[in-house]
This record gives sequence, structure tokens and C-alpha cells, in this order.
Amino acid sequence: MKIINNVKKMQACADQARFEYKKIAFVPTMGYLHEGHLSLIRIARELCDLLVVSIFVNPSQFAPHEDFDAYPRNFQRDFEMTEKEGVDIVFSPEIDEIYPSKFQTYVSLEKIPIHLCGISRPIFFRGVATVVTKLFNIVKPHTAVFGKKDYQQLLVIRRMVSDLHMDIDIIGGETIREHDGLAMSSRNTYLTKTQRESALSLNKAMKSAQTAVESGVIDASRIISETKAFISSHPGTQIDYVAICDPETLEDIQVINRPALMALAVKVGSTRLIDNMILNMK
Ligand code: PAJ
Repeated sequence: MKIINNVKKMQACADQARFEYKKIAFVPTMGYLHEGHLSLIRIARELCDLLVVSIFVNPSQFAPHEDFDAYPRNFQRDFEMTEKEGVDIVFSPEIDEIYPSKFQTYVSLEKIPIHLCGISRPIFFRGVATVVTKLFNIVKPHTAVFGKKDYQQLLVIRRMVSDLHMDIDIIGGETIREHDGLAMSSRNTYLTKTQRESALSLNKAMKSAQTAVESGVIDASRIISETKAFISSHPGTQIDYVAICDPETLEDIQVINRPALMALAVKVGSTRLIDNMILNMK
């Protein structure tokens, strides 16, 4: 496995692979890898001749008061994990390699970011769209794999790729959970034992919502208030949003008469967790 931290070198490897008609698949990450990341890497491995994983904690998607400095990092462990998965190249640049001092160009979307996470994290999706565009231009993949755990992010990437005619297939991987239902996240490492128990309320609440919908409840506002009450009854939780919305546009839905996205963002202590599920009628 090669570790590359230079943009030009990465581009040269991508050009060489394309010259040899090799298919390049790409999994962008911010590192501190877990089974969720590995599941995407395994999907990508099956699809290509050259598998590239990036590890880059992207400053432009963190607001000044957010956890950029504290974000967990363990590059050595990440390199060992990627090597075991048969990754060919880890692209792991320094910040000024990606954002040199004169940098001033951003990619931003008009509509998807005005919902859900974009409300409390107004610069987040601009940062994500910008860094993913850069990474796509550096790694030159044919295919890239993203997790459905970050549902809105996946929508942003799909929209951006389509809008900007990027010739890249985007694949969505299922959310990988701990045995007790907590969605895996690098940020779970911040949780104390009690906070982790409270964090389980997100998945439990979504499962109850699914049961309610199956038993014929169609009123989204009723499900939302029951979900909020359930989560709030757990110590240390502070709800950012609970939404039931259209899976494509993210516009709120009042009546659940077709598959609907239930999306949650909850702070547990100071850790912000997100999760989502498609609610299906019976
Ligand atoms: P990061 O949080 O490291 O996630 C990298 C990829 O792993 C994303 O596509 C995310 O959706 C996926 N992922 C995270 N947890 C998952 C889980 N439990 N199951 C399945 N997939 C999971 O998302 C980012 O980094 C960044 O925003 C990035 C796209 C790299 C841009 O900086």
C-alpha cells in the first residue's frame, strides 16, 4: 500500500492507472476508521483495479466553535486497517496542500443545504462539496462510495456530481451499527458510558416510529413529538432536529403515505450525533 500526501503525485498515479485502463474507486474519509468506513472500502474493493482511500480532516467543513482540533486522529492505526483491507493508495495530505494560502474557490448548493444539518451547520455542506470536488480532481475516480449514515451529505454529493457533469458513479453504502443499534461514528469515542446509553435512544426512537407507521399512524407531527419526548427523557440529550421529510428534496412531509426519510440530530453531552431511517408503510 502506498501512502501519498502530495497532490501532484496522487494525480500522476491516477493518470497512470487510467492510461492502463484501470478502474479507480475512491472512499473519502476523515480517518479514525471504524467498521462503517471499512464496509464502504469493501464495496469499493469489488468495483475497481485501483482502490484509493483519503484520510483528511477537512477544516472547511467545521465552524470555528466545532470540534476540528479535538476530532479524533490515529493515522498509524488507520494505515494498518486500510492495508488489511487491500487498499492500494491512502491519500493523506497536509492542510496547506489542499488549501494553500491563496485559496478562494468554493462549491455550494442552493437547496439541499437549507434543510436538516445545514440549518445548525451553515458552512458544513459548502466545506464538504468543496473538499470532495478537490479530492475527485486529485484522485480522478470512476466510482466513489459514501455512507447513507450521512444521508444529506450523500444527496449533496449526488446532486453536485450530476449538476457539474462529473463523470463519477456515486454508490451509497448502508449504515453500519454497533450490536446495540448505535450507528458507528468516529465521534462515538467522545461519549461517556451514560451518554452512550442515552445515545441509543436515537435508534430506538426511529424503530418505534417505523412500528407506528406500520400500524397505520400517518401523522408526521405526532411521530415527531413522540420521538422528541422519548429522546428528551434520556439524560444529557438536547435535540437539534427531528424531521420527517421527502427523501429526495428533504422538504417536510405532513402525511406519511409514501416512503419518508426520518432524520435526527441530537447532542448527547457536547457530542452531536446524527442518524436516519426510511419509514416505510406496510
Ligand atoms: P467521515 O465522517 O470520516 O465519513 C467517511 C464516510 O464514511 C462517509 O461517506 C460516511 O457517510 C461514511 N460512514 C460514516 N459512518 C458510517 C456508518 N456507521 N456506516 C456506513 N458508513 C459510514 O463524511 C465524512 O467523513 C466527510 O464529510 C468527507 C465526505 C470525507 C468530506 O470531508
